[in-house]
Amino acid sequence: MTFLITAGPTREPIDPVRYISNRSSGKMGYAIAEAALDAGHEVILISGPVNLAPPRNAKFISVSTSDEMSDAVHQHANSSDICVLCAAVADYKAAKVSPVKIKKSANGISIQLVPTRDILQSLGRQSTRKFLLVGFAAETDYLEANAVKKLRAKNCDIIVANDARSGMESDENELLILFRDGEMKKISRAPKKFLASELVKIFLNSRENRLTKNV
Ligand code: C5P
Repeated sequence: MTFLITAGPTREPIDPVRYISNRSSGKMGYAIAEAALDAGHEVILISGPVNLAPPRNAKFISVSTSDEMSDAVHQHANSSDICVLCAAVADYKAAKVSPVKIKKSANGISIQLVPTRDILQSLGRQSTRKFLLVGFAAETDYLEANAVKKLRAKNCDIIVANDARSGMESDENELLILFRDGEMKKISRAPKKFLASELVKIFLNSRENRLTKNV
């Protein structure tokens, strides 16, 4: 099987020295990549800027902006069996990137932000897709309700939800896994490495069931 995995944050430039980003460490996505490799699968890891060494046997694609991540994902999704979009893609980018450093102003400034392309949603909209589509949801409130909404809105097969406060930057996480058919699984707090190997098994199993149903 080929896994396509996105990980880490994206950086959306404002000017040549400034950007909008978030606190994603990339640890969960990298752990899933390692677990899939350990289980003997092929991995394409598309990563935003993080402080982690790329897994040795993965095809590694380094990106910075959400547009670069989107292009890389679209280039490889249809030749993958399982797409796991774990990256914390920035939701907004500057409407116009200044070609020169913006000068400090005593009056304050406003930067107009526009939404980035939603990569997960664009894959979910491909009616002929053959790959299993997995999204992540980091929430600070109403975890289950927000995750169910995301599963439907983005038309994915699985949403892996976690509390943004306890999961980001940490080596541990606690997960709620929601499936398209309404099934739900909980994995209590554990190291991301353990969670990753459980997730890989769950994804493979779901991919198998999906294929059986399609026959
Ligand atoms: O809507 P929200 O950002 O909370 O959704 C999170 C999920 O959507 C994650 O799987 C993330 O990788 C994906 N996403 C994306 N492109 C975006 C924003 C989020 O693929 N522009």
